[in-house]
Amino acid sequence: MSTTLSTPELFTPPLANPVQEAVATAVLEGLSSTPKWLPAWLFYDAEGSRLFERITTLPEYYPTRTERAIFAGYADGIIDTAIRTWQKTHPGRTGRLRIIELGAGTATKTGILLDAAVRRQGQTEYLPIDVSESAMAEACASMERVQSGVTVSPQVANYVTDALEIPQHNGPTMALYIGSSIGNFDPEEAATILCNLRRQLQPGDTLLLGTDMVKDRRKLEAAYNDHDGVTEAFNLNLLRRINRDLRSNFDLARYRHVALWNEDQSRIEMHLQSLREQTVRIPALNASFHFAKGETIHTENSYKFTSKSIASLLRSASYEPVEQWTDEQHWFAVTLATTE
Ligand code: TRP
Repeated sequence: MSTTLSTPELFTPPLANPVQEAVATAVLEGLSSTPKWLPAWLFYDAEGSRLFERITTLPEYYPTRTERAIFAGYADGIIDTAIRTWQKTHPGRTGRLRIIELGAGTATKTGILLDAAVRRQGQTEYLPIDVSESAMAEACASMERVQSGVTVSPQVANYVTDALEIPQHNGPTMALYIGSSIGNFDPEEAATILCNLRRQLQPGDTLLLGTDMVKDRRKLEAAYNDHDGVTEAFNLNLLRRINRDLRSNFDLARYRHVALWNEDQSRIEMHLQSLREQTVRIPALNASFHFAKGETIHTENSYKFTSKSIASLLRSASYEPVEQWTDEQHWFAVTLATTE
């Protein structure tokens, strides 16, 4: 056992807000487990979100730039295929394609697809869904300023834990789930997320799924171990966030960032490794956690895919792949699938 619950104090001051309560519950569960783990949503406080945006522009972090290049090269074909897929199940009917996006974040790549939709049909509706209110505000502001013909209807919601509620639409819907965000979930959770989305879609509607592909181990590990230490700072920031929210005192110098390719599971694993034996007391939890030297906290997975594993994930959630676009080196894939 690595957890010691100390004698309850007579008075434990209540935490200030619901977010801190959620942090407390997550940290208690994760650090009491063997092996230790923490949920990835803890990364995204204001500083974490800022560091994440920086990760996406790093030279070693090829996924964002590669996916953007695929959109830039094939946006018109993607929009056309989505519309034609819907028309097959609705012979003779017309209707404007609308685009929804799960986990839109600041939506920096989506503009390329919205542009293509506007070129094709003069205007389009865009419904971004994200947990982060600040990221969505930023996304909407930049989109409406730059893109005439785009009507934005944002929704702040957690698509992992909450039921989705997407309004009815007379025409095709294409749902975007890009950035290989699906890879941050276990295969079963991934299938559940896609199934929940599937229930909101109509026959002939489509899902556009962005996935990072299995490739050379060195290339994969470098993407999560950048030279400037931005990913390291992002990972360690999780401890700083816990220190702030739970009044603990993790010494960040006593942990290091580790990112390793796990070939059996086809995933990059991120961990925080304790550089020495230590015990950390978390006053807000009234608990202490012991770390052996070299023990790790598992903080994130990033699954990598093959065309075969993408197809089987999609089929397990009742989608049928329609078409796939990729870069010359097959580093990243963008797959259109339909609800048939
Ligand atoms: N989904 C992307 C990926 O797994 C982006 C991402 C999510 C990420 N969490 C991360 C990148 C943590 C680096 C570190 O690559």
